[in-house]
Amino acid sequence: MNILDIIAKKRDKKELTKEEIEFFVKGYTDGSITDYQASALVMAIYINGMNEREITDLTLSMAYSGDVLDLSSIGEVVDKHSTGGVGDKITLILMPIVASLGIPVAKMSGRGLGFTGGTVDKLESIPGYNTNVPVDEFIQNVKKIGISLIGQTLNLAPADKKLYALRDTISCTESIPLIASSIMSKKIASGANKIVIDVTCGSGAFMKDVESAKELARVMTKIGELAHKETKCVITDMNEPVGYAVGNTLEVIEAIDILKGKYLPKDIKHIITELGANMLVLANKAGNLEEGKAKILENLQNGKGYEKFVELVQNQGGDISFIENTDKFAKAKYIIPIIAEKSGNIVKLDALNVGKLSVYLGAGRMKKEDDIQKEVGFIFHKKVGDKVEKGDVLGYIHSNDEEKAKQVLKSQIYEIM
Ligand code: URA
Repeated sequence: MNILDIIAKKRDKKELTKEEIEFFVKGYTDGSITDYQASALVMAIYINGMNEREITDLTLSMAYSGDVLDLSSIGEVVDKHSTGGVGDKITLILMPIVASLGIPVAKMSGRGLGFTGGTVDKLESIPGYNTNVPVDEFIQNVKKIGISLIGQTLNLAPADKKLYALRDTISCTESIPLIASSIMSKKIASGANKIVIDVTCGSGAFMKDVESAKELARVMTKIGELAHKETKCVITDMNEPVGYAVGNTLEVIEAIDILKGKYLPKDIKHIITELGANMLVLANKAGNLEEGKAKILENLQNGKGYEKFVELVQNQGGDISFIENTDKFAKAKYIIPIIAEKSGNIVKLDALNVGKLSVYLGAGRMKKEDDIQKEVGFIFHKKVGDKVEKGDVLGYIHSNDEEKAKQVLKSQIYEIM
């Protein structure tokens, strides 16, 4: 077997065998297959697709390309994953609530890449919070307090790590076989028994329309079934940013305010109840979705989710005085208002545009090794559908660089009609 024949086969729209897929994944992981050969094959997959059998073989091959975590000593773990977006702080809000309802949460999250944010960067905005703990401590934490949220410290699905980085540099991110195998390989390797996936859909997501989001959901559900991991997908809107804050510290503060019961944006209420209810049903903690939604809201409103979040931060070494008093978080040097230039209704607050502008301000990274500025980003006061008057403050740009803030202000953030 050789890689040139495998590339040619997919280039010519033929089906790859399990052995050929395994040969590729193993060779790319150990370095015997080069980046340019992998790029050619990935582009051929992007253009010509894969059938379900090929996607499953690719997923399993990537899942077993490194360590596979054994969480059986914790019990039944229901994991949650999002296909990515802008302002997505759902893990920070939902997972403590779920843990407070007695479902063990053992979750490894990623960093932001491109215009999308990542939970690990957000957690690291909390002074002292350690996202990098060894696996036995991670498992001990879950046994002790029912929750641990950390980064991908283990050698989990290294084939996906390499392929994901490669895809990002050759314009091959938005592909159903490649996204489905990337996500499901990580979920299988991270040891969850059951999985709930937030399939985001819209300008700020990889899936731009509902039909593709449905197809991605169908494929991931099927892979889960074949891998004996019950999987539920929920399609959520990502045309505008989630909630009112975008940027690492700003999102952490919004998550804390929501857990404290200060307010609950409509979109966040929808996402946490939909995902949470599915998690509770899968874990047999709710008889149906309606009961599950009620339980999620109950433990948000009675403060049990907040208490669990505080316990989580303390247990990971974080300074909880920042959680108790969010005014302690460092602020950006310049906080500049976005003013409505005319009266009307907000018709657009484009998530992709906001994500790209946040990266420009320094909130995200374009390359894995880039540094980020935790305190920069946006606070929006108005969202799509809101009526505004000329001169109203629509939101604030948080920047450490005045020139950059001015540039951002010049770009069209809101569309008013
Ligand atoms: N998230 C992942 O983990 N992989 C993808 O390919 C896309 C989103």
